[in-house]
Amino acid sequence: MTKISIKVGNPLKQKTACLVLPAYEGRLKAAFAELDVLLKGRLQKVFRSREFSGKKGEMLLLHSVEGGCERFLLVGLGPKKQSNAAGVRSFASQVATYLSERHIGRCLIDTTPLQLGKGGETAVLGAVSEGLLLAGYRFETYREKNAESVAPLSAAALLIGSSRDRAAAEATVGEAEAICAGICRARDLVNLPGNHKSPQFLAETAQQIAKDQGLRCTLLPRTELEKQGFGAMLGVAQGSVRDPYLIVLEYHGGTKDERPVALIGKGVVFDAGGISLKAAEKMDEMKMDMAGGAAVLGAVQAVAQLKLPVNLVAVVPAVENLPSGTAYRPGDILTSLSGKTIEVLNTDAEGRLILADALTWVGQYNPRVVIDVATMTGACIVALGHHASAVLGNHDGLIRELIKAGERCGDRLWQLPLWEEYSAQIKGDFGDIKNTGGRSAGTITAAAFLKQFAEDYTWAHLDIAGTAWADKNTPGSPKGGTGVGVRLLVEYLRGQC
Ligand code: BES
Ligand code: MN
Ligand code: ZN
Repeated sequence: MTKISIKVGNPLKQKTACLVLPAYEGRLKAAFAELDVLLKGRLQKVFRSREFSGKKGEMLLLHSVEGGCERFLLVGLGPKKQSNAAGVRSFASQVATYLSERHIGRCLIDTTPLQLGKGGETAVLGAVSEGLLLAGYRFETYREKNAESVAPLSAAALLIGSSRDRAAAEATVGEAEAICAGICRARDLVNLPGNHKSPQFLAETAQQIAKDQGLRCTLLPRTELEKQGFGAMLGVAQGSVRDPYLIVLEYHGGTKDERPVALIGKGVVFDAGGISLKAAEKMDEMKMDMAGGAAVLGAVQAVAQLKLPVNLVAVVPAVENLPSGTAYRPGDILTSLSGKTIEVLNTDAEGRLILADALTWVGQYNPRVVIDVATMTGACIVALGHHASAVLGNHDGLIRELIKAGERCGDRLWQLPLWEEYSAQIKGDFGDIKNTGGRSAGTITAAAFLKQFAEDYTWAHLDIAGTAWADKNTPGSPKGGTGVGVRLLVEYLRGQC
């Protein structure tokens, strides 16, 4: 992991392999007047010829022959008016990627030109730190070390204004480290292949997190699920020889009698579709079908590390959805933990089945709020693509808060309606509810299904099918698991404190 430190002083007087100088579009002459003296007026020419004009993503690397800075990296940020946390984060990721690809392992970043509105200085340091740390993420457990992979930046110093509180700045870096550790934890879990990722493995990971962070971890094995009547979850699990687990983590950071926030994450370690088998193309990506569970585990880890003053209960129903001689079939009727019967029309609509039982089970905690996170529907990708997760629920205030948290942190959400009319599509013929609602409004009918198991509390559902997996490398997010949801949940919970 990249080591981040804080520095105070004149940027041009520091000793560094590379001084990184971000700049918004326009007014470059004034911004770089001091540096240009050092460079004997060369920058004037660069700006005049428009070799560098501060456009978003533009970079110019200059080598110096005197002074303590060996190199200067000018980085364009685009128009100042459009500055936001995601932009600052991607600036930092881009710098980390650029430098590490050139085997420049250390740098000093002048953060003073970066602006993020009010309360912005802390936000700037947080976003820069996150951008650097996430750009250093690699998943190379199963690859021989080779020339193709470049080592992450080893160290970056962040230069802050002399009037700033150094200790507070260091605390902000520490917070970013906790959040990024949570995100990288989620990415690792998602990237892990199905053969190395059984429900039991997820359970053991939760135990490890509990041990590291001082949390309470409870695992409900198959026998316990049978005893309590998790009929929907067990229906999904019965096609796999790998045992299901209900994973529960509890964190107590709030007062003793404060009602907890409950987080539930879909934990399908591999989704072949069951008897309603999926097509072969891209089926490999269905190892990511536990990304909701990974987000919840990563978020709890981060919240505990940040010592946020909240009470949390995190639940991950972990199963594998495979076709086999013991698998559940289309037409089967399952009795859920709530007592409601579910008619299985499609065994590939398994996420809502395991979440139904988890939603019922978590009711015993009398939660203040319940948020579930799931790679739920392909329809969500059709509706929103890869730039927003869907949010639906039974409480507009909660949905608004989640959307706002998403805008602040970059894990963006878009609300879909959950009007009563949609429930008609999933009314059962031979049981109480059907697990699919036909072709139209697939993301909504999935949520309408869940709603029937979340009647007793304030609840929101996040469909992260389009955002949990990246098809290609971008600075700060390599191909594979994105860790989406971790930052969102932490940001939401921070807003509650
Ligand atoms: N895990 C999938 C949804 C999914 C698809 C996530 C693509 C990420 C990328 C889910 O279990 C599923 O198969 N959903 C079905 C539901 C349908 C059968 C009603 C779908 O979306 O096709
Ligand atoms: Mn499925
Ligand atoms: Zn699934």
